[in-house]
Amino acid sequence: MHEILTDYPLDDCNSFGFRARSRLVVRVRSEDDLKSALADPGLANLPRRLIGGGSNIVLSSDFDGVTLLMRIAGRRLVEAHADHWIVEAAAGETWHDFVRWTLEEGYPGLENLALIPGTVGASPVQNIGAYGIELADRFDSLRAFDTTSGSFVTFGREDCAFAYRDSVFKHRPGRYVVTSVRFRLPRPWQPVLTYPDIAATFRDAASVTPEAVFDEIVAVRSRKLPDPARIGNAGSFFQNPIVPAEQHGRLKADHPALGGYPQADGRMKLSAAWLIEQSGFKGTRLGHVGVYDRHALILVNHGGGSAAEIVALATRIKDGVKAKFGVQLVEEPVFL
Ligand code: EPU
Repeated sequence: MHEILTDYPLDDCNSFGFRARSRLVVRVRSEDDLKSALADPGLANLPRRLIGGGSNIVLSSDFDGVTLLMRIAGRRLVEAHADHWIVEAAAGETWHDFVRWTLEEGYPGLENLALIPGTVGASPVQNIGAYGIELADRFDSLRAFDTTSGSFVTFGREDCAFAYRDSVFKHRPGRYVVTSVRFRLPRPWQPVLTYPDIAATFRDAASVTPEAVFDEIVAVRSRKLPDPARIGNAGSFFQNPIVPAEQHGRLKADHPALGGYPQADGRMKLSAAWLIEQSGFKGTRLGHVGVYDRHALILVNHGGGSAAEIVALATRIKDGVKAKFGVQLVEEPVFL
């Protein structure tokens, strides 16, 4: 049975570290907690929101409703087949701890996604990705509570409509609450060393181990990205824009240093960090917030910042990049 907490501070529940309170909070520790909280007539008419790790949100104000904090724990091997393992983690597990556990238990395959902040339950929503792998590449299925039908449902890979930083869940906010995710990890393990930063370290692919890739990813990320425990941030603040090939060609003619990653559909993915840096924003500050000086894609709270300041800075960046390159940046975090 769920327990209801009142006037609860959310400062530790969002990785920007913004100050905000929720009138009511339920810490969801089991599927039964979730079902009973959603069926509670005392909560039924209140606005409701769900927070996992809070690493992809911008909290703007106190919330006069009920916040569900996803805290369901658990991870296990479900099946061992000759050519793959199926492992499962509950939605409230910390993503990075889960990745480390899979390696310790001998089920490699998620190591390129090490040190991504957030929870397992949030990972399919934006189809987290880094260093040549997306969650979709290792996804098997997930279990979610459908708040419309009032029952648990299973989503296979096709049902999720995964794309770059996108899934069906992003387009139906509030409808589904993910409670566990299953991963399909291919056997034998093959390293994914397509990303230039990583490939340079491992010239001899035959002797690479999953642990070595994990350690390297952790080292690279720690060098480039701020630790949210020390400097508030929400990871990449903008998506890398995907533009038609003709537009990329025109931009490249004006800016020969512009990169681009060809997409399966013929379009080109640009580096938002590069566009932002070239527009002069890297390391700049606005009030208590700013653009991280080691990575232009990361907006940071230097302490005492607010969502309003982040929105003002993001607007300046979008306007600046649009004026210089004619490219529209789109934010990655969800504004609450
Ligand atoms: N670059 C700059 N200036 C910078 C940083 C980068 O010009 O300050 C340029 C460089 O040319 C670099 C290129 O941008 O080669 C790409 O940079 P990086 O390798 O850091 O990757 P990214 O495209 O900026 C994406 C993800 C990250 C993920 C990395 C590694 C998005 C929105 N971001 O960043 O994900 O870790 O690739 O795979 O797709 C996140 O989503 O929170 C996140 C950190």
